[in-house]
Amino acid sequence: MKKTVQTIRKSKGQRRLVAITAYDAIFGELASRAGMDIILVGDSVGNTMLGHSTTLNVTVDVMVHHTAAVRRTEPESLLVADLPFAQAHLAKEEVLQACTRLIQEGGAEAVKIEGNSNLEGTLNYLIDAGIPIMGHLGLLPQRVNTLGGYRKFGKTNEERDSLLEDATAMQRAGCFAVIGEMIESKVAAEITNSLNIPHIGIGSGPECDGQILVSTDMLGFQSKFYPSFVKAYANLEETILDAFRTYGREVKDNIFPE
Ligand code: KIV
Repeated sequence: MKKTVQTIRKSKGQRRLVAITAYDAIFGELASRAGMDIILVGDSVGNTMLGHSTTLNVTVDVMVHHTAAVRRTEPESLLVADLPFAQAHLAKEEVLQACTRLIQEGGAEAVKIEGNSNLEGTLNYLIDAGIPIMGHLGLLPQRVNTLGGYRKFGKTNEERDSLLEDATAMQRAGCFAVIGEMIESKVAAEITNSLNIPHIGIGSGPECDGQILVSTDMLGFQSKFYPSFVKAYANLEETILDAFRTYGREVKDNIFPE
């Protein structure tokens, strides 16, 4: 059954949501067939697929390109696309234009925006224009240069208070769900309990309304860097290397083609 923004909203308190990133038609189709509630075409495409070290090089054009590839598989999962770096801080009309491209050209059904309570006005404006928005709080990978790296959030009372305020501001603005990344488990649980929309966690412990993982991480693709919270459910790097090497050997040894 097709998952919509309403399906996701209504799941709060009923069942746990499962979300995953995908960036192309192959993975999009598999994620949908596996029953994922949400497929996120994350701007993590920059570092997982395109060889960049962060998400900062990803543009709206890139997001449209990859979102459209997943769209063509007509996934039953809700298809969400990331609004890339700095876009959310442009004039509201320009943010609306970028979101419109993700929906009209990319085929996204909702847009994810990294930010905090300062964005409440913009989020409200977009939602009013008919763009379903998923907020993203806690660790914001688009701010890696400001942060000087990736770390856990919510360790101090001050951070706890501002995370709770960010989450409630996103809910007030009309977001249908939020993602909480790398938030101390206790604070993540408080966020979950204080919202009436789903709080989907990544590296934020078990007391969220659902979980999201980056597909290449959980499939065992990236030997260089794994966030500490990731569980590898497969070792595709080894499987693919093995297939490539066997193919190479068989061609050289005149075994393939027969
Ligand atoms: O871009 C992405 O993959 C994300 C996830 C880490 C949630 O934002």
